[in-house]
Amino acid sequence: EFKKLVFSGVQPTGNLHLGNYLGAIRRFVQLQDGNDCIYCVVDLHALTAQLVHDDMLSQTRSIAAAFIASGIDAEKHIVFNQSAVPQHAELAWIFNCVARLGWMNRMTQFKDKAGKDREQASLGLYAYPSLMAADILVYRATHVPVGEDQKQHLELTRDIAMKFNLDYASHIRKTNYGIDITVGDEPVHAYFPMVEPLIGGPAPRVMSLRDGTKKMSKSDPSDLSRINLMDDEDAISRKIRKAKTDPDGLPSEIAGLENRPEAENLVSIYAALADKTREQVLAEFGGQQFSVFKPALIDLAVQVLSPITGEMRRLMSDTSHIDAILRNGNERARARADVTMRELREIIGF
Ligand code: ADP
Ligand code: NA
Repeated sequence: EFKKLVFSGVQPTGNLHLGNYLGAIRRFVQLQDGNDCIYCVVDLHALTAQLVHDDMLSQTRSIAAAFIASGIDAEKHIVFNQSAVPQHAELAWIFNCVARLGWMNRMTQFKDKAGKDREQASLGLYAYPSLMAADILVYRATHVPVGEDQKQHLELTRDIAMKFNLDYASHIRKTNYGIDITVGDEPVHAYFPMVEPLIGGPAPRVMSLRDGTKKMSKSDPSDLSRINLMDDEDAISRKIRKAKTDPDGLPSEIAGLENRPEAENLVSIYAALADKTREQVLAEFGGQQFSVFKPALIDLAVQVLSPITGEMRRLMSDTSHIDAILRNGNERARARADVTMRELREIIGF
């Protein structure tokens, strides 16, 4: 059996928001206990949608600062920068040759991000999930905490791993690098493990504060739609006060949130921030109006986020500490990725 190895990444594009925090970073922090974790700022991915970035380095530092400020231990675990480890791109090329066009054509995020003029989307945006598979599997990671929007990409990662394992089965058997895994009930001698997505908690998909049917996103033009990790108390308060709700108050049962996406979203956010279930939140606030619930949510959000914001500001005011963390992480990540690529070269026959 493989040791549980956790990998995930965040793009250095735009402000980190509450969706990134609750869907991803907070879970990164929780998973540190008892696992081996590798957390990456995925700057190569940042080129897929927009080629030129004037603030790539400061955005990269700010994601790393958010990791550290949220409580990730960069000495016990690894925090690093994707482009500093060329093995990611190298393995992505191999995976480009493993993945089938038919698989890629099913990716809904490509369709969303490419928009109407698909002919003008970059080849990188199309191949993004193949690079993501390489990010994970170049460490032979087994568990990947992500938001719900990444589920399909993780299924593709498993398909790529499976095809590689099967197509190269006889080559893998000639080396000592294989592992025995079970897929369904079938024993398979494999090189790559089947990654398990870790999607869950009360807020795997945080929605826009202005429209409960859209996910909270960096690319939403309305700043009122999201709470940014760097927002101060006033901004948090204003955005939650202006958050869309419906005329009904809070129900005491989950069923009462049905077809009320905005109400459901605020309850889910409260639950995630308080480390409670949504049932517990409704037991506390059921029967109350949003005029009571929103101030409680503001207090909670400020209480949870302001220490992180403060620490991020401190780390960003003198970047030498963050730069040293990344340098150290880059070196350790490179050493591990190098082992995988050496073994793969032997398996492939280069
Ligand atoms: P974005 O999706 O905003 O462009 P990233 O792709 O860098 O940001 O995502 C970083 C992590 O945050 C991923 O694990 C993603 O699934 C998660 N995430 C992004 N938006 C949300 C959201 N609204 N709710 C929950 N998780 C989210
Ligand atoms: Na995303």
